[in-house]
Amino acid sequence: KILILDFGSQYTQLIARRIREIGVYCEIYSCECSDDEIRQFAPNGIILSGGPETVTRGETPRAPKIVFEQGIPVLGICYGMQTMTEQMGGKVEASAHREFGYAQIRARGHSRLLSDIEDHTSAEGYGLLDVWMSHGDRVVELPEGFMLIASSDGAPIAGIANEDKAFYGLQFHPEVTHTKQGGRILKRFVIEVCGCEALWTSSNIIEESVQAVREQVGSDQVVLGLSGGVDSSVVAALLHKAIGDQLTCVFVDTGLLRLHEGDQVMATFAEHMGVRVIRIDAEQRYLEALAGVTDPEAKRKIIGNLFVEIFDEEAGKLTDAKWLAQGTIYPDVIESAGSKSGKAHLIKSHHNVGGLPENMTLKLVEPLRELFKDEVRKLGLELGLPADMIHRHPFPGPGLGVRILGEVKKDYADLLRQADAIFIEELYRHDLYDKVSQAFAVFLPVKSVGVMGDGRRYDYVVAIRAVETIDFMTARWAHLPYDFLDLISRRIINEVDGISRVTYDISGKPPATIEWE
Ligand code: XMP
Repeated sequence: KILILDFGSQYTQLIARRIREIGVYCEIYSCECSDDEIRQFAPNGIILSGGPETVTRGETPRAPKIVFEQGIPVLGICYGMQTMTEQMGGKVEASAHREFGYAQIRARGHSRLLSDIEDHTSAEGYGLLDVWMSHGDRVVELPEGFMLIASSDGAPIAGIANEDKAFYGLQFHPEVTHTKQGGRILKRFVIEVCGCEALWTSSNIIEESVQAVREQVGSDQVVLGLSGGVDSSVVAALLHKAIGDQLTCVFVDTGLLRLHEGDQVMATFAEHMGVRVIRIDAEQRYLEALAGVTDPEAKRKIIGNLFVEIFDEEAGKLTDAKWLAQGTIYPDVIESAGSKSGKAHLIKSHHNVGGLPENMTLKLVEPLRELFKDEVRKLGLELGLPADMIHRHPFPGPGLGVRILGEVKKDYADLLRQADAIFIEELYRHDLYDKVSQAFAVFLPVKSVGVMGDGRRYDYVVAIRAVETIDFMTARWAHLPYDFLDLISRRIINEVDGISRVTYDISGKPPATIEWE
């Protein structure tokens, strides 16, 4: 297994995902972790990530000395290479001009890390690689025992190696897909240099998790808040496999779910898989709690608090339950450990109210804690969950509660559900669903005039929204074909009695957000 020490690069998680894709287990630790933590993890190799600081200033982070004293391979990427250089006695220089974007490097000499990996061959016979650079500082003097293995115009020392110690440094980023051979380089490092075996596969992960859960909970009863989202669904399937009837799922139907969503959850888990699921029909309670409330944040709070209240009531009835299962995944763990804050953090806290009573007497079982989202999806498929459930667009915890602008009413929710279902159905039919990251309808409680046949209509408006994004922090509106939008508009206005106008949302994030509230 591989240890990644994080110096704050936005790409650190990407390094971890690439290593896992190769089939090797890895974890991310802060660069300030203790010697004991490193020894205890007992990695076969260490990767030092990039970072925003400069090693030319004294007070910036360095790799713990122990990293270089374990007799195991080390790969420094960008800042990681610079701090390795500085700590081994070489020299790094600050530079005013940043090199950012594509660059071509020449692979020099024969290093174990780069030999025979190239995109092109130069006239002089060097391997040439198209890589992604993002740095200001650069290495200007090799540390003793190191040789030059790559150079570019912007960074004459773009790669270094000490073959005796198996220490390597790369100025470019092998973890981003813009570096075409990046996957091969990382694979070369973890498999050949570090000697790791590619054993991290879905079926192995399932087998190990099943064992671990059985050991952890023994013969105790476990309760899980099932939402129908990917993470809690995979936890349900995994725990069902591990402990069968010791698992009870509580599914709160808020009345703010999509069309037939509640029935689908029950069909998949209760009927098809034989999981014990208690369905709580809470529509009325939600509507009463939300009556007259228009402020988005107030609505979110009410919805979240009511969820905890109801979940608590139900979990309290299961007097034997000793464990609470949660769908916490690795990015949540990294995020809450780090200092990242802001939006992502806020969303997580919403997410996790999913059943964390304050005076909790239940112990936590979190079988996905070490997994990235794409790994969770693979696991879900392997566990037999339906592919469309696994690849469904994200749906916010407060559900339609934040897609009905202003006050939430049952008739609004019913109209919105129908419009949304038409949109999603057509996205699937036209093979567009997987081409957008998130798509949905929003209910606008304003009326506009229309004509239909000889009659005049005075009905509500829905907005259609579809976005493309990698991380949901920024997004562009999806350029869906006009003919497709035309079809959506016709179908919704013809089929949903109460909607007389459809608009398409052409706002990017920023400045808009993905949801309307
Ligand atoms: P925004 O609207 O902030 O949304 O651009 C970014 C992503 O987060 C989802 N979202 C939420 N998820 N609870 C959630 O669990 C919430 O309160 C919430 N608000 C937004 C949104 O659907 C999008 O995927």
